[in-house]
Amino acid sequence: MSENFATLSIGETTYKLPIVRGTRGDKAIDIRKLFKETGYMTLDSGYMNTGSCSSSITYLDGAKGILDYRGYAIEDLAKNCTFTEVAYLILHGVLPTFDELKSFKQDMRRFALLHEDMIHFFDHFPPNASPMSILSTTVNSLHNYYPEMDEEDAYGGLTVTTARLLAKTRTIAAFSYKKSIGHPLVYPSPKLNYCENFLNMMFDRPNLPYKIKPEVVSALNKLLILHADHEQNCSTSTVRLVGSSGANLYASISAGVSALWGPLHGGANQAVIVMLEDIYADDKDFEKYIAKAKDKNDPYRLTGFGHRVYKTFDPRAKIIKKACDEIFKKLELEDPLLDIAKELEERVSQDEYFIKRNLYPNVDFYSGIIYRAMGIPTDMFPVMFALGRLPGWIAQWTEMKEDRENARIGRPRQIYTGNKRREYIPMKERG
Ligand code: CMC
Repeated sequence: MSENFATLSIGETTYKLPIVRGTRGDKAIDIRKLFKETGYMTLDSGYMNTGSCSSSITYLDGAKGILDYRGYAIEDLAKNCTFTEVAYLILHGVLPTFDELKSFKQDMRRFALLHEDMIHFFDHFPPNASPMSILSTTVNSLHNYYPEMDEEDAYGGLTVTTARLLAKTRTIAAFSYKKSIGHPLVYPSPKLNYCENFLNMMFDRPNLPYKIKPEVVSALNKLLILHADHEQNCSTSTVRLVGSSGANLYASISAGVSALWGPLHGGANQAVIVMLEDIYADDKDFEKYIAKAKDKNDPYRLTGFGHRVYKTFDPRAKIIKKACDEIFKKLELEDPLLDIAKELEERVSQDEYFIKRNLYPNVDFYSGIIYRAMGIPTDMFPVMFALGRLPGWIAQWTEMKEDRENARIGRPRQIYTGNKRREYIPMKERG
């Protein structure tokens, strides 16, 4: 029989702590009353062992390399679905029927435009502004233009705010790119689906119409699906934490975009390309970069390797590597960085340092190479990650809001290591 309590002894006293179990074998010791009852807090920097919530959205088994959204294997979803279908699944908990998907797509069309005044924002960022900063700022500003955070349903059963966010973030992402290259904006078309529309807004020009290739659309759907949720990662935890203070959905998502920006998280796909370019430009001196990553006196890391949770392989990376080979073959493309990436992976897979620490390619290792093949510029890669992660952030935020039992502000504690209380010294006596 499985235990219902763990016991903790401090000095002569023993405390009983309830054990909580998930539906797929996760188990946790519930310490919520520990401080109140014992005066002790737990210390877990980097949240290596802290469950911050219960969630029914994503299941992840890092030892077995399993990732499921709402009970469906990521491999099945990536093979059979569009991103819009998976976004619906993540938000609603079930795969859509034909009619439900139709309504959901209608929402994406209905809310895809930005308030025309917002277009001026893009004129006032400097030409080399980071697309992630533009995205975070502009998403936050949506609240100024659409302040009514009503619960009114859009066609697809979403709240209007959710539908607006999903539809407008894609438009913001494409507009930020067009502005950065000084080209006229391309507005969303009612005739195109989610991924086609994004590619068209990015690459169509009045003087050079963009031909939408099904292979590119399919690869983009796959990439966005693979990024759609990943339980309590840094940016999702940020979205939940900001939302727990009562901040609105736009503000919470904008904070999530900022958290994602870092090179240890969503900025890694961009950093991988920089790393591969460096190796290429350095006469393919792989050993130099591998040695740097292993040197404990050097903060350098091989970006695209390692993961907090996956200790065998990242299932997303497997699918992306295959998709990468497929798109290169179908479109008859060549990129020296793909060869560099494969050779680096091969060398790392035989290196004792990486084997001992379970460091395998993660989701970001090959995704940037596909984005490059699509013509997406490197500084837009984290934006692509954000577009994919958006349904997950919104679903996690909504789940947190609906969890009335645990509705409280997120507020960790700390072990204070500063000065003891001391006497105030007036300015003239401070020497
Ligand atoms: N290159 C070299 N050494 C590494 C790497 C790497 N990429 N990643 C981890 N290590 C070493 C690390 O130095 C440590 O060694 P030791 O035990 O000797 O001190 C050990 O492996 C464990 O690393 P950690 O930093 O304690 O692991 P973590 O769970 O805190 O960090 C990580 C996870 C993803 C931040 C880290 O592996 C990393 O920095 N990877 C490179 C950045 C990257 O690719 N990020 C994308 C992650 S996947 C998508 C996402 O989450 O957004």
